Amino acid sequence: MPLTILAQRQLRSKVRFSSETKVNLRENMMSDLSESIANGNVVKAFGLGGRLKRHLGELSYSYADNDVVLETSQSALRSSAAIILVFTQYSFFVLGAIQVLNQGLAFNDFVAQYSMLVLLAGPMNEILDYANKLNQSAASLHRVRHLISLEPEGSQGPRQVKDLGDLSAGVTLDVEDLHFSYPKGSSIFKGLSFRVERGETVAIVGASGSGKTTLFHLLMGFFEGESGRLALNGVDVRELDLEALRAAIGIVFQEQMLFNASVRENLAIGSTEDQVEDEELWLALEQAHAADVVRALPKGLDTMIGSNGIALSGGQRQRLAIARAIVKNPPLLLLDEATSALDSISEGHIQAALKEIYKNRTSLIIAHRLSTITHADKILVMDHGVVAEMGRHEELVERSNLYRSLYEAQVEGFLNSAGVEDV
Ligand SMILES: Nc1ncnc2c1ncn2[C@@H]1O[C@H](COP(=O)(O)OP(=O)(O)OP(=O)(O)O)[C@@H](O)[C@H]1O
Ligand SMILES: [Mg+2]
Repeated sequence: MPLTILAQRQLRSKVRFSSETKVNLRENMMSDLSESIANGNVVKAFGLGGRLKRHLGELSYSYADNDVVLETSQSALRSSAAIILVFTQYSFFVLGAIQVLNQGLAFNDFVAQYSMLVLLAGPMNEILDYANKLNQSAASLHRVRHLISLEPEGSQGPRQVKDLGDLSAGVTLDVEDLHFSYPKGSSIFKGLSFRVERGETVAIVGASGSGKTTLFHLLMGFFEGESGRLALNGVDVRELDLEALRAAIGIVFQEQMLFNASVRENLAIGSTEDQVEDEELWLALEQAHAADVVRALPKGLDTMIGSNGIALSGGQRQRLAIARAIVKNPPLLLLDEATSALDSISEGHIQAALKEIYKNRTSLIIAHRLSTITHADKILVMDHGVVAEMGRHEELVERSNLYRSLYEAQVEGFLNSAGVEDV
C-alpha cells in the first residue's frame, strides 16, 4: 500500500511533465507548419520539401511518443487510485466482519457503515479523476500565466505626454548618446548622436546590419534604448503616449506589409480621420505613381489584395505602401528602402514626387542606392554603432573616405552592369 502511494506521487509528476512537453511540442509543430506553408515558395525553390517532411515527421513522432507515455502514466495513475480504493473497501470489510464475529459491532451497523463506504467510492473516484485532470491542466495553465505575465506594450515608464506641440512643419529629432542592444543580441548603438531640424530631409546610410531599421523601430517605440535619449520636438519618446507617438509617424517598412483587405482599407489604415475621401486616396496614389496600378485592378479601390485577393508585385506593393504613408500626412515620415523594388525609371518618377512630399515635414530616408539621396539636406553615415559622418552629399564625397568608397563602389557597379566600363 505505501508503495502504491509512493508510485502515485511519481506518476503524478510524470503526467505533469508529459503534459508540459505535449504543450511545447504542439506549439513547435504548429509554428513550424504555418511557417513552412507561408514560405511555400522558398521551400519549393530550395527543394526543402524532403527535409521539411522529415523534420515535421520527427516532431510528430516525438509528439506521439510523448502521448503514449502520458496516456500510460494516466492509466497507471487511475489504476493505482482504484487499487487504493478497493484495498480500503476490502480492509474495512475484513475488519468489520472480524468485529461482528467478535460481537464488538452489531451486524446492522456494519451493513450501514459498509454501504456508506461503497456509496462514497463513486464520488471519491470522481474527485481523484478531477485531481488528475487538474494536474494535466497545470501545464496549459503555466503557459497562460506566462502570457498574462508579459508586460503590455508601453507599460515601462510613464508615457503621459500626449501633445507634441507644433507639428505644422514637421518635428525636430534629437538622438543623444543612444545605447541599444537587442535582448540576447550584440550591441547595435554605442553612443549614437545627431540632430535633425524641423522640416529637414535626412538620409541614413550604412552597411547592412548597421542598425538603420533598428533606429526606426526605436523611434516607433517598438523597443527602448538602454541609455541616452531619443526626443521628438524635445519630448523623450519614452514619455510619449504610444498612440500620440505613432500618430505622428508615417512609415514605409522595408518589407511591405499590406493586409488581406481592399486597396481602400489598406490605404486608409493610417489616417486618423474616420472616413477618407476617395479623392484624397487617388491624390496619394498619383503622388506614389500607383494610380495606374489601381486603375488596372478589376474593382479599383475596392479590389481585395493579399493572399485572399489579387497578388501584387514587389514594386506595386511598395508604391501602395508609399501612398498609404502619404494619406496619413504625418509630421515625421520614415522610409526604409521604400523604392528598392522599383526599376530605375519608376524609381526616378517616385523620387521626383517624393521631393514634393518631403516639404513641410521631417523625413528620414534609409537607402542603399545612394543616387536616390544626393538631394538630402543631410546624409548620416552609420558605422559600428555611431554616426561616423554627417553632411551634404558633395561635402561627404570630398571629406569622408567611407562615404566616397560606398558611392564610388555603386557608381562603378552601375557602369559595369551597363557595360560602359571603358568610358
Ligand atoms: N528583433 C531583433 N532581435 C535581435 N536582433 C535583431 C533584431 N532585429 C535586427 N537584429 C539585429 O540587429 C542588427 C541590425 O539590424 P537592422 O535591421 O537594424 O540593420 P539594417 O542596418 O537595417 O540592415 P539592412 O541594410 O540589411 O536592412 C543586425 O545584426 C540584426 O541581426
Ligand atoms: Mg534594414
